[in-house]
Amino acid sequence: MIEHRLIERMISLMDHEIQRMDKGGAADVHFIDTAVDFIQTYADACHHGKEEDILFRDLQEKDLSDNDERVMQELIEEHIWARKTTGQLVDARERYAEGDKDAVDEIIELMGSLVRFYPRHIQKEDKDFFKASMAYFPQEEQDAMLQEEYEFDRRFIHEHYERVVEGIESRS
Ligand SMILES: [Fe+2]
Ligand SMILES: [Fe+2]
Repeated sequence: MIEHRLIERMISLMDHEIQRMDKGGAADVHFIDTAVDFIQTYADACHHGKEEDILFRDLQEKDLSDNDERVMQELIEEHIWARKTTGQLVDARERYAEGDKDAVDEIIELMGSLVRFYPRHIQKEDKDFFKASMAYFPQEEQDAMLQEEYEFDRRFIHEHYERVVEGIESRS
């Protein structure tokens, strides 16, 4: 939930950027790159990564109520949608940077979709799902999950930049 607060701050910056473009401002490719990096690295890989690889994984071992099972499936689908939409934003940004100025409308549309999506997704997790899901775990299991999350974070930056270097190496 602490991580959700930082995601909300980036979403608010993206909302301001949309309003600026809506008034006829040019797309700021540098801002888009920063926002996309934040979403892909922090929100999708690190934050959603921990939800999927630790919390949802452990919940799959539990006998969830029908409602909790349904909400978890929705959250998983929403993560997939968010990754796909961010990928489409990257495509639109590429076309814009290559000179297709009409791509600004697509950038506004896709950034708007993400700005509308994240607060709803976060609210579903904060208000409904996280508290309900903790009831399935005794305290020792909650503590073990938290330790695993710390370990995930500890490894994350190293693995991230290994992938960055490997990505460049594979192209050369
Ligand atoms: Fe999530
Ligand atoms: Fe989340």
